[in-house]
Formats: sequence, structure tokens, C-alpha cells
Amino acid sequence: MKNFRQARWDEPVVYEVSRDRKEGTLVDSEFREYSAKFFGKLPEGVARKEPPPIPSLSEVEVVRHFMRLSQMSYGVDFGPVPLGSCTMKYNPKICEELSGSREIAEAHPYLDEDEVQGLLEVLYTLQKWLSELVGMDVCSIQTPAGSAGELAGALMIKKYHVDRGETQRDEMVVPDSAHGSNPASAAMAGFKVVRIPTDSRGNTDLEALRAALSRRTAGIMLTNPNTLGLFEEYIIDIAREVHGAGGLLYYDGANLNGIVGYARPGDMGFDVAHLNLHKTFAAPHGGGGPGAGAICARGALVDYMPVPVIDYDGRKYFLKYNVPRTIGRISWFYGNVVPAVKSFLYIAALGTQIREVAEVSTLNTNYLLKKLTSLPGVDLVYGHGRWRKHEFVVSFEKLYKETGVGAEDVAKALLDRGLHAPTILFPLIVPEAHMIEVTESETRENLDRLAEAYREIVALAYSDPAEVRKSPQNTSVGRLDTVYGNLPRNVVLTYKSLAEKKSRV
Ligand SMILES: Cc1ncc(COP(=O)(O)O)c(C=O)c1O
Repeated sequence: MKNFRQARWDEPVVYEVSRDRKEGTLVDSEFREYSAKFFGKLPEGVARKEPPPIPSLSEVEVVRHFMRLSQMSYGVDFGPVPLGSCTMKYNPKICEELSGSREIAEAHPYLDEDEVQGLLEVLYTLQKWLSELVGMDVCSIQTPAGSAGELAGALMIKKYHVDRGETQRDEMVVPDSAHGSNPASAAMAGFKVVRIPTDSRGNTDLEALRAALSRRTAGIMLTNPNTLGLFEEYIIDIAREVHGAGGLLYYDGANLNGIVGYARPGDMGFDVAHLNLHKTFAAPHGGGGPGAGAICARGALVDYMPVPVIDYDGRKYFLKYNVPRTIGRISWFYGNVVPAVKSFLYIAALGTQIREVAEVSTLNTNYLLKKLTSLPGVDLVYGHGRWRKHEFVVSFEKLYKETGVGAEDVAKALLDRGLHAPTILFPLIVPEAHMIEVTESETRENLDRLAEAYREIVALAYSDPAEVRKSPQNTSVGRLDTVYGNLPRNVVLTYKSLAEKKSRV
């Protein structure tokens, strides 16, 4: 988009706007009266003497403050957010609205089960639908994120082997095309991580896997479709080999968007799987959360599920704690209820049409892939000629070598054209990577817009590379020094304090 210019407001944080101001308030009079009555009963030593330093602003100031900030931002309500491995699809507003109702959003987790039967029924039904979608015996929404599901699954596998006296099984096999959280979760559960390389077709190298399996193998954590967007061609063989060696199979189902309704981890032979509700099932990803994971199990691992699982005895819905060999709690209360309700609504609205999510997202992925790989300087590293599922990864290494314009420069140039950049420089096995996931939300026009922006940037890289490296020039904030910005001691609230801090460094 040639005319794109993002707003640049010199917007302080609310605390600075309201500093030293007496008039205006965020607290309404009803609350003031209520709090005077309630807090008047507090014992002397407990009540605070001074009011807390809450910003003091009028309604119009607050509204304008946040409007200006929103103009300096970009989200899926503005345009595509093709962040690979994040599934930033557009989430229907109806799911937001209904799940945000008082009865759901404000239900206290300590309410008696009898008072939340409706809510428990919704969550129980969601567990059932998710079990059906992944081909497992049971699912729980206890896990508040995908990585929490991974940790739960790894702990379940560990306890299973310990209960059978096989304490020597201390190795978890993880392909190098896995999401980074997989080896991290395996390590957190106390396993030694055994890394398996990816073959040229983008599959887990079967020979290397066979060589790695032993009496020490506890299991494998496999992301499928993997971070290259490729479905493991030998998944049945992998399942047979790992089970044959006495290990169990963990399925990272965060990338379900490209196969939902078509293929199920349970049918592939997997024992335990997690889903990211905030990727495939309408709960927005990012934006500070909360997210929601689901952990699902089959066969012997059902007895190891984290508690509580929501259950039904034919009369009443209840929180079940007596799971025989449970690994215990993974988070507080039921898990994150609001995003779980969004997912329930999303699946209920789509019904069996949920398969179209997989169809359209896969079609969109491959449409854009074809357009990008026809550009000079852009390559596929793995799996030439193979169809992708939810996402694809292209490499700008050739462009970088020929022009000095790398993956980061191309990403910044996309921002200048009013588009969100994809995930870059990940997965690590692809040099100068762009990991692109457009989901089913995008129209063909938007895909063409993205493709055209890439074409224009690559052409400019060959004719005037210095111009591309100046990007972004049209955004609220210019190119950041990410190394400096990521230093924890530099994480501060305002530009003003950042400037102060910088001058002290
Ligand atoms: C493939 C894959 N696995 C696991 C995760 C971890 O999920 P979370 O960020 O909810 O912890 C992600 C995150 O997006 C992912 O893409």
C-alpha cells in the first residue's frame, strides 16, 4: 500500500497524563459509596492512610488516550497478521461477546458446583468435542497454555514409566523441526533431550530416529504438521518404532489448523496430545492472553491426567479429582475458562464445517507459497514440491548473499506497506527464514496484496538495497535496537524514562 502512514502520537502513559491532577476520576460514585461503607469497617491498622496512586483522568481523556495508542498499533482487525506458528486468525466477535458476559467472565472459581452447572456443562462438552477432534479418550482444559500441556504430557509419560519400574527411561526424543517449547518442556520434566535431524523432504529422519531409540527412551515429542508446515510422511512408522522401543508418543497439536477435522493424533498412534485453543479455536493468540491449552490422553495415560477433569455422573457436572495416578494440578482451578468458552462457541458455530478451516487455510498457504517461491532470491530449504498445511517457511539467504538485504530487512519493508511481518529467523534450521501462516481468514485479494508487497521489496532489493535497509519509515516507531531493548534492565514504562535511562548508561 503506497500511501500507508501509521499515526505518530507523542503519547505518554496514563500515569504521566494524570500526574498532580486533582479533578477527574476513573472510579464511579456508586463504587465510592460502596467502598466507603465497606472499608469503613476495616480495623484501624489495616486500612491504608493514603489513597493509592491510581491515575486521575476524565472519561474523554481516557478514551482519547487509548484511541491514539490503538492508531499506533496494528492487529488482525486492521489486516493480515501472517505470523507463522501463531495462527493469528480473525476471531469472530460473537465468541468474544458471549464469553465476556458477566455470568462467565465474573464467575468466581470458588462458586459451588451446583451454582455453575451450566458453565460446567459447556466445559464438559468442549472436552468431549476436543477428544473427538483428536481421537483421544479424554481431554482437560486444566492447562493454561500449549507449553503447559507439553509439560503435563511429559510429566505423565515420566510417571507412567516410573510406575512400571522403568526408571532408566530418562531420554525424550525431539526432532529439530519441533517448536522450541518441546525440548524446553522435556527438559523441565527432567528428561535428557535427544535431537533428531530433519531429512531433505522435511520429515523427521527415520534412520536417525531408529538409531536413537533404546531402553532409555521415554518417548518422542513430535510437532505435526511440523514448523515447516509439513505433515510427517512416516508418522505411522514413527509411532510403531517408538512404541516398539517401549516409549510413548506425545503429539504437539498446536498446528492443528491445517488438518482439523481431517486427521487425528489418536488414529496416528499417539498417546497424549496438546492443543492450543488460542490458535485453532478462536481464542486470540498474543495480546497478553490469557491463552488456553488442552491436554488429551488415550489408553493407559488417561489415569495420569492432571486434575481436576470436568466430569458428569448422569445427574450432575462435577470436578473430578480422583484420577488414579494423576500428576496433580498443572494450574489453579479449572484452567482458563473464558478462552475455553470462546472455543466452545467457535466449534458449536462451525459444526462439521470445521473441516473447511483446514481446507481454506491449506489452500491459502499453498497459493501464497507458489507466488513467493517464483521470486528471485527466495528459496525453499526443505520439502521441494511438497504441499504445505497451515504454514510455510521460505529462505531469503540467496537474496541476502546477492544484495545484502536479509530476512529482517524484508520484514521491516512489509511494515512500511501496511502489512504485519511474519515470524522471522525461525525455525533455526532455515537460514534467513520467513515463517508465514495466513490462516483461513484471508481473502484472495489480501494474499495477492501480500505477494505483491514481497515482489516489490525483492525487486527493490536488487535495484536499491540501501533503500530497503532503511525500512521501516512509515510506522509509528522506527527500527528498534532489539539487543538493547531485550536487556531486562532496559524494560521501562515510557519513552521518557527510556531516554533518561539511556543517558545514564
Ligand atoms: C507448535 C507449537 N507448539 C507449542 C507452542 C506453545 O504454546 P504456548 O505459546 O501456548 O505455550 C506453540 C506456540 O504457539 C506452537 O506454535
